[in-house]
Amino acid sequence: MTQLVHTPRVFSGIKPSGGLTLGNYLGAIKRFVETQETGVETLYCVVDMHAITVWQDPAELRTATHEVAAGYLAAGIDPAKSILFNQSQVSAHAELGWIFNCVARVGWMNRMTQFKEKAGKNAEKQSLGLYAYPSLMAADILLYHATHVPVGEDQKQHVELTRDIANKFNHDFKAPDFFPVPEPVIEGPATRVMNLRDGTKKMSKSGESDMERINMLDDAATIAKKFKKARTDPDGIPETYDDLSDRPEARNLVDIYASLADKTPQDVVAEYAGAGWGKFKPALADVAVEKLAPISDEMKRYMDDPAEIDRILAVGGDKARAIADPILAKTYDLVGFVRPK
Ligand code: TYM
Repeated sequence: MTQLVHTPRVFSGIKPSGGLTLGNYLGAIKRFVETQETGVETLYCVVDMHAITVWQDPAELRTATHEVAAGYLAAGIDPAKSILFNQSQVSAHAELGWIFNCVARVGWMNRMTQFKEKAGKNAEKQSLGLYAYPSLMAADILLYHATHVPVGEDQKQHVELTRDIANKFNHDFKAPDFFPVPEPVIEGPATRVMNLRDGTKKMSKSGESDMERINMLDDAATIAKKFKKARTDPDGIPETYDDLSDRPEARNLVDIYASLADKTPQDVVAEYAGAGWGKFKPALADVAVEKLAPISDEMKRYMDDPAEIDRILAVGGDKARAIADPILAKTYDLVGFVRPK
């Protein structure tokens, strides 16, 4: 239904809350570039308003915003093909976010597993923004009438909530199909890259130890060391990929290899069947360095020229506003807000 009335449009975002990880690259940016190359309309955002749901030092927030933008650009997001901007430049995100705070139900928010994980036993001490965050994420997506949202596995529940918000808004304001009901796009071998020290936890920007993640700005020696020390089990690479189903650390390394090398995990297992970690880990480090070193060099080049990044983000912000403003205006009309004629 939705796809019939809404032209396909892709939106996704990354929080500038610390450095980019291999999880962000394989689960998000690499796939964003592939999507851009299909010719569909794409918007990619540095979601700085989401970052401040937990405390960010202002100077570090600016640096992290530049780093995420540099990561997008270095990996192949082309500002001539995709709209690349940071969220706070388009005030309509906050405005639509407020309306969605009034559409979403407290019970819906209470089900969000990411809030529960992040807040832990300290829910009372978290910012109200962290709790309401998924409704701002819905605004990010629906402000552009986006139909497809490429994300890693951990964001699936938030995109499903976005679908609920779209449906409830359309229903409550008697505007069938006004907001599209967007599809999460979660594909490929690396939709959940795991922590290198604990294969039951996802690799994240803010883990306890730097050894548990690969950062996009890590140098070749650090990448090799982290993979060498990555936790595994005594068995090496099995005969089939299915044999890895209850070996999370081993499966993670195979999945990372597959994603970096643009192979299927089944092919990687077939290629290395019977090999020990002493053979597989250096091969993994080699493919990682081969793919990541040019990106990290290019990231550093961009980060040495923050004025150029700011210029690109400002142009993207103008293009984003051109799409967002009429959609927000129509939303205000539907809600019944009086506006200057
Ligand atoms: P964030 O900043 O935590 O992560 C950005 C993207 O990277 C993916 N990702 C991973 N994928 C695979 N394995 C991992 N270990 C891994 N870690 C992160 C995430 O799934 C995500 O796609 N709430 C979002 C940002 C956001 C957004 C949006 C996304 C805000 N508004 C609108 C899409 C559409 C977040 O915190 O992602």
